[in-house]
Amino acid sequence: MAARLWWVRPETFQATPAALALLNAKERAQQQRFIPPAKRHEYLVTRVLVRTVLGEALGVAPQALQFVCNEWGRPALASVLMSAPIHFNVSHTDGLVVCLVSTENEVGVDTELFARAPRLLALAPEVFAPQELVELAALPIEDQAQRAVILWTLKESYIKARGMGLALPLDGFAFRFEPGQVCLDVKPALQDDGARWQFQWQRFGSHCISTAIALSSQQRQSGMKANAVDYVEFCRPG
Ligand SMILES: CC(C)(COP(=O)(O)OP(=O)(O)OC[C@H]1O[C@@H](n2cnc3c(N)ncnc32)[C@H](O)[C@@H]1OP(=O)(O)O)[C@@H](O)C(=O)NCCC(=O)NCCS
Repeated sequence: MAARLWWVRPETFQATPAALALLNAKERAQQQRFIPPAKRHEYLVTRVLVRTVLGEALGVAPQALQFVCNEWGRPALASVLMSAPIHFNVSHTDGLVVCLVSTENEVGVDTELFARAPRLLALAPEVFAPQELVELAALPIEDQAQRAVILWTLKESYIKARGMGLALPLDGFAFRFEPGQVCLDVKPALQDDGARWQFQWQRFGSHCISTAIALSSQQRQSGMKANAVDYVEFCRPG
């Protein structure tokens, strides 16, 4: 298994004292800064999810985990715990929080509501690459909204897996939808080989979830491709 995707619906998660106790002082202060209750809760759920699944994977108490961010804001575990390599990436939006975890591969994940399609279609010329725009426009009009959300989450999964967020130009890489697989073309300036990535998108109720997994050359040679993401609901610590 290349990666496991933990998911939780925030509205089903109880903000119990046990859950709150997993946050450190800085995180609790950050949580209080969110004004809308739903965003405050989403922040709590995200921290509990990340701390619990990484703590379990490493055999470390969730409260003991420390995080550092790279220059583009990507959180990673602090070096003291890096002896056991683990890769993770988080995405949260209204109604869903996900954390993609892998002990082998660099990963990125993004989730978005399909209902955000009108906004994305309005932004399309700014956020999609020229070839993506051509393929989007060539689709039947009734399929364009779904494609825009899929494309957007795929693009975000890639820029997040690279750890650079929007510092990577969104027109510097383009997705192609081949039968049974999603392929990535990357401009030379971005110094990457699109073929080393495995991408998947999935309809998950009213959300779209896209994942990016960087395969090693050994994994590519062994033909590891489809079904490499295992979806698991997160239900602890209630
Ligand atoms: C990181 C980024 C690329 C994604 O943000 P996003 O899609 O809004 O939010 P997501 O929920 O998917 O991801 C946020 C998480 O990604 C992680 N993250 C932050 N910076 C990151 C980076 N440079 N690389 C990878 N992951 C990053 C964090 O864990 C963060 O959650 P946390 O702060 O609660 O820990 C952000 O830089 C961004 O600005 N995105 C653009 C959003 C936008 O413009 N949307 C408009 C079109 S709908």
